[in-house]
Amino acid sequence: MNLEQLVKPTIEIAKKAGAFIRKERQNFNLERVENKGFNDLVSYVDKETEKIIVAGLREIFPDAGFITEERTVDQIETPWKWIVDPLDGTTNFVHGVPVYSVSIALAQEGRIMLGVVYEVNLNECFYAVRGGGAFCNETPIHVSRAALLKESLIATGFPYHEGGKINRYLELLKFLLLNSHGLRRLGSAAVDLCYVASGRVEAYMEYNLQSYDVAAGTLIVEEAGGMVTDFGGGGNFVFGGEIIASNGAIHNQLQEKLVEIFKGAS
Ligand code: IPD
Ligand code: CA
Ligand code: CA
Repeated sequence: MNLEQLVKPTIEIAKKAGAFIRKERQNFNLERVENKGFNDLVSYVDKETEKIIVAGLREIFPDAGFITEERTVDQIETPWKWIVDPLDGTTNFVHGVPVYSVSIALAQEGRIMLGVVYEVNLNECFYAVRGGGAFCNETPIHVSRAALLKESLIATGFPYHEGGKINRYLELLKFLLLNSHGLRRLGSAAVDLCYVASGRVEAYMEYNLQSYDVAAGTLIVEEAGGMVTDFGGGGNFVFGGEIIASNGAIHNQLQEKLVEIFKGAS
């Protein structure tokens, strides 16, 4: 598999999907939203965008299977899989807040080999192939060189459900508010990761995530010189639901605090 050859068509597919999202947003209103569950919004735009992406990816790599958020395609077992979130940041999209993205990763036996995240509003396309560095609109990107938490801006995602961990999470937010340049909740996990990769924020952490939220972004962070782990400091961050991504320099300080706060939480 020549990954370098797959990047360009994958970017084109992500941009085509982004153009569809941008166009649909012009006439979108809240009545077109469905609830998959409490605080789990979806619209025809998510589903139609996914169909555009799946059709495109099938053409460029017919043997690969899929993990996709909206499940418009059968999720069969294959060594190579596309991991797709057609619209990451649906809550922002439906409310008209301009931070949302298309996220496409390619995994080989669960290992992410290629990642593309297209931020629709700023027309920024972040991408990486394993071993080849990370880019935004063809310019190489690198994580921030800040050495200390107190010099760092931190992104996170607020949990949508109680799930037993909210008080610990609030404790973490309090610690970060008092010990960093501040916190940002952008509303798209894929964009959060790309902002770590491009040095706009020093770190990002969140729990209750799915593989399609983070798969592409994690490779982009690693290829930009950053570090990604689960809350325990291990490597189960794509499929494990919990993630810390950072510039590397502040990783231990943040991760140790997370262990201290979340210790014993299921
Ligand atoms: C959500 C976004 C958000 C994160 C949520 C995700 P969606 O994805 O990535 O930033 O906090 O956990 O579910 O639903 O907009 O694709
Ligand atoms: Ca998502
Ligand atoms: Ca989504």
